[in-house]
Amino acid sequence: MPPMQPRKISPTTVIIAITLFIFVSCSLMNSFYKIITNRLNDNSWDVYIFTQNWPASVCLSWEEKQKGNACFGAANKTSWTVHGIWPTKLGTIGPSFCNMSLPFYPEGIYSIKDELNEVWSPIEKHRKSNVFWKHEWEKHGTCADTMPMYPFEYSYFNQGIKWSRQYNLTTVLSNAGINPGKIYNVSTVWSAVKDAYGKNPHIVCFTDTASKSSYIMEIRICFSKTFELVDCDGIKLQTRWDHRRKQSGGGNFTDCSPNQLVEYPLTSPFPPPGTVQPPEDVFILDVLKAIQLLSWATS
Ligand SMILES: *[C@@H]1O[C@H](CO)[C@@H](O)[C@H](O)[C@H]1NC(C)=O
Ligand SMILES: *[C@@H]1O[C@H](CO)[C@@H](O)[C@H](O)[C@H]1NC(C)=O
Ligand SMILES: *[C@@H]1O[C@H](CO)[C@@H](O)[C@H](O)[C@H]1NC(C)=O
Ligand SMILES: *[C@@H]1O[C@H](CO)[C@@H](O)[C@H](O)[C@H]1NC(C)=O
Ligand SMILES: *[C@@H]1O[C@H](CO)[C@@H](O)[C@H](O)[C@H]1NC(C)=O
Repeated sequence: MPPMQPRKISPTTVIIAITLFIFVSCSLMNSFYKIITNRLNDNSWDVYIFTQNWPASVCLSWEEKQKGNACFGAANKTSWTVHGIWPTKLGTIGPSFCNMSLPFYPEGIYSIKDELNEVWSPIEKHRKSNVFWKHEWEKHGTCADTMPMYPFEYSYFNQGIKWSRQYNLTTVLSNAGINPGKIYNVSTVWSAVKDAYGKNPHIVCFTDTASKSSYIMEIRICFSKTFELVDCDGIKLQTRWDHRRKQSGGGNFTDCSPNQLVEYPLTSPFPPPGTVQPPEDVFILDVLKAIQLLSWATS
């Protein structure tokens, strides 16, 4: 039997195929280009999210994230501190890194450094405060284009100090009888903040994967571009822990589980309560020993 002849492809088919391929690739590249440039240029936003966090909970989540993670002493602070001011487009995250020609100058906030250390200090120990502030500035501050421009960086950080004093969550919660070291229904906490400010806040929890305990970690309140308090409705949830979070059923107001009481922890013990110590990696050690023995025996 003669070998099968491959089917003849006519030159016209080849030309049509190539043309189609080029056409499709070009339009694909074009749409990618558009998406990317849009991403780069669209720095529009709707509200400032002002996020304050409870240091002990932030520390717990940091320690749980990876073995060996430690916190600064600030983790045991007994008042709420600032995480950041984030210009945000409703329904999306960001914009972020809006103007790379505005690098962070430590000198720009030198005069308010002590106050920043008091109310806007890093909790996670891999960061120096300058690195934390640099990140918040470059990612969010450069988008905060309704802050007074001269001096822009100073205005941004000073706004955080002002708001943390004006919207003191430690006081608001304690006035409502909500105190560290106890557990609460998150709706009680939410209502306390709502009653104090008259606008809908947003509450973020950290849930320990091992113990399944939930901790109140962040409270966000929102401001218009002209610095009036507004409802946080419509902001999209996201924190660094987003990837392990499920939608809670708490609507737009919280990601904390409505079916579970949440802890407002007093301090951040180390190791965190839910930590499961992994067993020694005996198997790997055995393999290594065997290899060592082998190489000794064969050398
Ligand atoms: C916070 O205080 C607790 C209890 O006193 C202590 O075990 C823990 O090490 C402290 N954490 C930090 C980060 O200083
Ligand atoms: C970025 O900042 C520089 C320096 O202040 C300014 O001249 C420029 O207009 C800004 N660019 C954008 C896109 O806002
Ligand atoms: C908020 O109030 C608490 C308790 O009165 C106080 O210790 C803390 O310094 C205040 N925070 C700010 C930023 O003023
Ligand atoms: C969240 O808020 C947006 C805008 O206000 C609304 O359209 C949406 O239905 C809300 N989602 C939930 C789950 O409540
Ligand atoms: C918290 O309170 C809300 C509203 O009163 C209620 O629907 C919910 O079941 C409570 N959650 C828990 C865990 O008690």
